[in-house]
Amino acid sequence: MLESIDAQLSKDHFKKLSNLMYNISGVEIQAGKEGLIQSRLTKRLRALQLPNFDSYLEYLGSKKGQEELLAMMDQLTTNKTHFFREKPHFDMLRNKIMPEIKATGSHKLRIWCAGCSSGEEPYTISMVLNESLPNIASWDIRILATDISPSMLDKARQRQYFKSTLMETPPAMIQKYFKKEGRGEQAQYQVKDNVAKLIHFAQLNLMTAWPMRGPFDVIFCRNVMIYFNQATRQQLVERYYKLLRPGGYLLIGHSESLTNQGRGEFNYIQPAAYQK
Ligand SMILES: C[S@@+](CC[C@H](N)C(=O)[O-])C[C@H]1O[C@@H](n2cnc3c(N)ncnc32)[C@H](O)[C@@H]1O
Repeated sequence: MLESIDAQLSKDHFKKLSNLMYNISGVEIQAGKEGLIQSRLTKRLRALQLPNFDSYLEYLGSKKGQEELLAMMDQLTTNKTHFFREKPHFDMLRNKIMPEIKATGSHKLRIWCAGCSSGEEPYTISMVLNESLPNIASWDIRILATDISPSMLDKARQRQYFKSTLMETPPAMIQKYFKKEGRGEQAQYQVKDNVAKLIHFAQLNLMTAWPMRGPFDVIFCRNVMIYFNQATRQQLVERYYKLLRPGGYLLIGHSESLTNQGRGEFNYIQPAAYQK
């Protein structure tokens, strides 16, 4: 057992670690975040029994260290999410997008949730679809939910949540789509099978090649591109455009926007919602 860790993060360490993060995931760590990196990664040094950041960097560069790159990502990215986060998109799905699709007579729906974190977003989409489609059994629906983080995907697949992540979920929907286990603060809410069965979770780094061919009716990529630089965002937006069917929608986080320059051929529909 290591008694003490000399976890001083030098400018050089910071530069190397942020370059690594950028190269793997496109996530840019801003200058000024040194303290945060030092404290979060000191936990990794402890877990790995490494004495300092030189040895951590050496470990990351080794064959054994490849898995650690994802553990480092987990420490340095935010996975914050909750059910019905940024509700206007779910109202739009229910009141605009689904009626449009129904009007075509199609019973097929493909949705991609890119950067789904611990699953609250795709489960919310599935609940909204269950509400919108009384005859959902006659529909061919697939929600693909991807994230770079294996630990977030594990959490998503477990589909057990504390009450705190349900603060924006209408009580009637909690009642209908969750099974409560336990009491008080420790109570857990388990997403029911009929909500979960529409979703396929898979690990995918948005910076790499994508195996899916599409076309998708809707792509949710919310509160993910915010961590990327303008060039990376623009490339992603172009790739999303190609994967959407004509008339398909791209929904991004409400604090994000596609500027005229970076919007490509998308049409602006409402805040954080664009149409091909
Ligand atoms: C803040 S969460 C957003 C969750 C959800 N979309 C929402 O808006 O509530 C950002 C997610 O993006 C994921 N992410 C970051 N870089 C990624 C990349 N290069 N490829 C795939 N996912 C990435 C993180 O792992 C994290 O789970």
